[in-house]
Amino acid sequence: MRRQRRASQSGTMAKKAKTGSAGGPGGGQRQLRVRVKTARKRSVSSARWLERQLNDPYVAAAKSEGMRSRAAYKLKEIDDKYRLLKPGMRVVDLGAAPGGWSQIAAEKVRALAPDGGQVIGIDYLDVDPLPGVTLLKLDFTDEGAEDRLKSLLRGGQADLVLSDMAAPTVGHTRTDHLRIMGLAETAAHFAVDVLAPGGAFLCKVFQGGTERELLDLLKQSFSVVRHVKPPASRAESAELYVLATGFKGRCVVANDDED
Ligand SMILES: C[S@@+](CC[C@H](N)C(=O)[O-])C[C@H]1O[C@@H](n2cnc3c(N)ncnc32)[C@H](O)[C@@H]1O
Repeated sequence: MRRQRRASQSGTMAKKAKTGSAGGPGGGQRQLRVRVKTARKRSVSSARWLERQLNDPYVAAAKSEGMRSRAAYKLKEIDDKYRLLKPGMRVVDLGAAPGGWSQIAAEKVRALAPDGGQVIGIDYLDVDPLPGVTLLKLDFTDEGAEDRLKSLLRGGQADLVLSDMAAPTVGHTRTDHLRIMGLAETAAHFAVDVLAPGGAFLCKVFQGGTERELLDLLKQSFSVVRHVKPPASRAESAELYVLATGFKGRCVVANDDED
C-alpha cells in the first residue's frame, strides 16, 4: 500500500517537474524564498548551502515523498525520458548511500513481486535497509567486490548497472575530476563484464569531458552512448551522466581487442 502511494506520488512529482515554471517540482506555484543570514558561527558558503537546501523544491519533495535522497529524482527523470527500468530487471547500484536510486529502482523493477526484479546496492557507507534491495557495505574498488556483486546476481548477470559514485571532493577541480573519472572507468569495466546483451549503463561523470578511453570503451560495447543532464542535477554543478544503451555483449569487445 505504502509502495503504491509512493509510486503515484513519484508520478505526480514527475508531472510537476515537467510543468514547473522553474524546471523543477512545485509546478507553477510560487514558493516563498527562505533567506539565511550569515551568523557569527556560519561561513558565507555554509549559509549559501543552507539557503539553497531550504529553497530547493527537490529537497522538499524528497522529504514529503519519503525519498532517501534528492538524487533519487535524477534517476527518476532520466528513467522517465529513456525508460531504462522495467519490471523483472536485475540492477546494480554502485555508490548507493543513502539509497535514493535503489528505492526508485526497486519500485520500477518490482523487486518485491514474486517474479519481480532484483536490486543490489553497494557503498562503503551504511545504508538503512530497503525493502527488496540487497545491500553490501563495501568499497567497490576493493579486490573481490565485483565478484561479490556477480555472485549475488541471478544468473551472474545484470540488465542495468547504475553508478552515482562520487568520492568526497577536495575542492581542487582537476583532482576531483580525476577521482570521479577513475570511479567511472572502474564502473564501466564492471558493466562490460557483468551486463547481459541488451543491457545498459548509467554513470555519473564530470563536465569537461568524459575521458576518451572511457568513451571509446563504451562506444565499442554499446549501440548508443549519450551524455544526459536531468533537470534535478543543478545547472551550476559540473555533474553529468553518461548513458550507454544496447550492450552488444562481451564477445564483441573481445573480438575487437584481438584485431
Ligand atoms: C552522490 S552519492 C549517491 C547517492 C545515491 N545515488 C542516492 O540516490 O541516494 C555517492 C556515493 O558514492 C559512494 N562511493 C564513492 N566511492 C565509492 C566506492 N569506491 N565504493 C562504494 N561507494 C562509493 C559514496 O560513499 C556516496 O555514498
